[in-house]
Amino acid sequence: MASLSQETLFRLEDFTLLTARRKNVIRSPKQSGSSDEDASPYLEESGWQLIHAPQEIQFQPNTSEPIHRWSPYVQGFSASFVQRTIERYQKDYAFPIVLDPFAGSGTVLVQAKFNHCPSFGIELNPLLHFIASVKVNSWHLSPSKWLSITEHLLRVSTQASAPRSPAPAFLKSESHFNPPVLKNLEKLKAAIDRLETTTLQDETLKNLSLLAFASILIDCSNLKRSPCLGYCRDKQIQDEAPFVLFSQKCQQIAADLQKCQTHHTSALNTPSVVLLGNSMNTEIPQQVDLIITSPPYMNGLDYVMNYKIEMGWLGFGQSHRELKSLKDQMVVCDNVSKGLIQGFSQTRRYSHPWIEQIKVDIQSGIERRGNYRRQDMPEIVHKYFDDMYQVMRNVVRFLSKGGRFVLVVGDSLIADVYVPTDLILARIGEELGLTVEKLEKARERRSGQIRSYRLRETIITLLKETE
Ligand SMILES: C[S@@+](CC[C@H](N)C(=O)[O-])C[C@H]1O[C@@H](n2cnc3c(N)ncnc32)[C@H](O)[C@@H]1O
Repeated sequence: MASLSQETLFRLEDFTLLTARRKNVIRSPKQSGSSDEDASPYLEESGWQLIHAPQEIQFQPNTSEPIHRWSPYVQGFSASFVQRTIERYQKDYAFPIVLDPFAGSGTVLVQAKFNHCPSFGIELNPLLHFIASVKVNSWHLSPSKWLSITEHLLRVSTQASAPRSPAPAFLKSESHFNPPVLKNLEKLKAAIDRLETTTLQDETLKNLSLLAFASILIDCSNLKRSPCLGYCRDKQIQDEAPFVLFSQKCQQIAADLQKCQTHHTSALNTPSVVLLGNSMNTEIPQQVDLIITSPPYMNGLDYVMNYKIEMGWLGFGQSHRELKSLKDQMVVCDNVSKGLIQGFSQTRRYSHPWIEQIKVDIQSGIERRGNYRRQDMPEIVHKYFDDMYQVMRNVVRFLSKGGRFVLVVGDSLIADVYVPTDLILARIGEELGLTVEKLEKARERRSGQIRSYRLRETIITLLKETE
């Protein structure tokens, strides 16, 4: 048995071998802390209460829900949450006009349509805009016509001499896919590209084929998205995977079309419009009753690079440069260009004493740690709230009196500094003339470097008073 001094020596030696990052994690004053504790001064100052209301708000259950399951979109939120929100306010608005300014793959719009609620969505990523549009605009397609098209595609593309549409030149497709899989994907893509579109229905069918194709790409690849895109070791992909998975996806779509046309006939004509644009300035053609949304989370995901494979294959991005420029227009994430952050102080529109203090604390946290993945993190944090202010200011203009703005958002811990994202967004809502009606803690979550720190996901409900 080692003596105490030997044991201590061993531990010290071990410690010096640890990376600087790991040491900072171990030394963090936030180990085993929680956002509930750290948020209390902010709550006290505001006079708000955070209600505990555990509920399902993540996308995972959608993977078995009709229409929602057409695209594997890990950052979406749950259809049942949208359903509960629409039902919760049924007495106030029978068939509310719904808006989602961060439409993503269209969860809010699809669920609004199931409830016969007209809806609008805004989405800046053209791939996600495409996916959401196809999901809300294909319900009337004949399942048998759809299946005959997909059989044709499979018949044509499985021939040995089938033509191929080349994989996107700017992506490293040879590493993303095994050679026979890549060849089969190129054949399938060529068959879809060659579909003739003389009528609107032909075009909708072709778009649906492209959605089905995009939805199998990651499963056919040596990659995984969990939630960030990365290589997956030991993944076994059969050469025929593109055809098998495409066929399964098409069958699933046919079953959902059948279901919609049998059980949701009156929803088929409910209008859903997805606008391709920036929610900081996109105009909505009419007033809405309910805004239901989940914005990007601070230091969260890069909604462009994470979808670069599908964007490249469907022609929504031709180069990394183009993707980077799109990313820089989005609500900021910590993968944003340094140049954009350098110029931010000249253009910023919003601040609040909480944000200013948080920036000072993050700066000290970075200095204490001696290194951090982004030295400009204080400015990134500020830009996040500035961007969200612009989005909220824009969309609140289109909210009718008596309307509600419901946001699902997670808070953050950055360089050992707690950032109450939910409460700052509620503050912005107040400054824009809304009343903070409810703050509900929906679940606990772990994210970032300090896994023992308990963050949360909050549902913020803001009301636009009638007077
Ligand atoms: C958390 S996701 C929304 C997911 C969506 N609720 C769903 O269930 O699919 C945030 C979305 O906001 C989009 N986005 C980020 N900045 C934007 C902006 N300035 N304008 C419009 N969309 C933006 C991203 O592309 C991403 O799809």
